[in-house]
Amino acid sequence: MSGEGERLVSADAEGAEEQVIEAALRPKRLDDFVGQERVREQLSLVLRGALRRGRTPDHVLLSGGPGLGKTTLAMIIAAELGQPLRISSGPAIERAGDLAAVLSTLAEGEVLFLDEIHRLARPAEEMLYMAMEDFRVDVVVGKGPGATAIPLDIAPFTLVGATTRAGMLPGPLRDRFGFVAHMDFYEPAELEVIVRRSARLLDVEITDDGAAEVAGRSRGTPRIANRLLRRVRDYAEVRADGVITRDLARAALKLYEVDERGLDRLDRAVLASLLRKFGGGPVGLSTLAVSVGEEPETVEVVAEPFLVRQGLLARTPRGRIATPAAWAHLGLAQPAASPMAGTLFEVDDGAERPD
Ligand SMILES: Nc1ncnc2c1ncn2[C@@H]1O[C@H](COP(=O)(O)OP(=O)(O)OP(=O)(O)O)[C@@H](O)[C@H]1O
Ligand SMILES: [Mg+2]
Repeated sequence: MSGEGERLVSADAEGAEEQVIEAALRPKRLDDFVGQERVREQLSLVLRGALRRGRTPDHVLLSGGPGLGKTTLAMIIAAELGQPLRISSGPAIERAGDLAAVLSTLAEGEVLFLDEIHRLARPAEEMLYMAMEDFRVDVVVGKGPGATAIPLDIAPFTLVGATTRAGMLPGPLRDRFGFVAHMDFYEPAELEVIVRRSARLLDVEITDDGAAEVAGRSRGTPRIANRLLRRVRDYAEVRADGVITRDLARAALKLYEVDERGLDRLDRAVLASLLRKFGGGPVGLSTLAVSVGEEPETVEVVAEPFLVRQGLLARTPRGRIATPAAWAHLGLAQPAASPMAGTLFEVDDGAERPD
């Protein structure tokens, strides 16, 4: 099974080496942060307003898919405020006491980053409500009838929460953030700027159309753009003179099986099977998965979301169907009888509900 761990186009961070490189490529200030124009402008106002008043800014929630820049922005917030960043995460805080320990050692004005905040345990979450609102927590000492709650003041701080699943955050927690930043997929032009910037930092020469080629295959995600850039750089250094041109980027990404739309081998296998073996569908998920030799879950979780987002595949009550764009993308002629030929179809596109 092709685990997501080995995918060049996975949006998740892969291993220690990638994390080191990512740290080196992270923009450090708001002005270096590319794209997300509205978020950047709003955040800039929030931070400047607070600095001007000499107060700690409102708590900030960063919501968006993996690799879109949440951790990067959290670090930038601390840097812009001139404050240290304390880092923890929902899964790391198992008990309310763990959270109390972190909160009670915060100095005034410090920024606390809680990654994956939707995974915070319930008792810790309730403690956080009070901490966010009143800068106070109740530490429970003892057990049973003799237990007492000792109120503890904590220094005013700014919480920056990050989540890939804003829909899973309980309302009361969401409501305590003064500012919620929704991070979207990036436009190709923005990714192009990111690729050129990263190339500069990695000391790699890249032409503008070479950067455009890499950006266009990056699935709207800076992390993927940076990863593709590194693979293309390897190719440029070993097989050519080190300069990344459009032709070179194309040749390299062909070798790595990432196509012009950012589809990889698995994505294309799913699509090709849907078209060639099932005439474009409808076909059930498990049948489709067997036809490409994968687990249904792999097809559903790893390949389908991007295919749906690209408008290549639709999930319907009767099964998966290919859109006309899928036939065009694989360069196949669409048979007149295929499910979406010439008709407008009512489809459940499988997209997640907006947060
Ligand atoms: N706006 C941006 N401009 C330049 N580089 C960016 C931008 N956003 C993200 N990156 C780069 O993409 C990589 C991944 O970003 P980051 O770690 O902030 O994503 P994330 O949203 O925290 O992902 P995850 O959900 O996996 O934690 C980093 O190396 C960072 O340098
Ligand atoms: Mg992160």
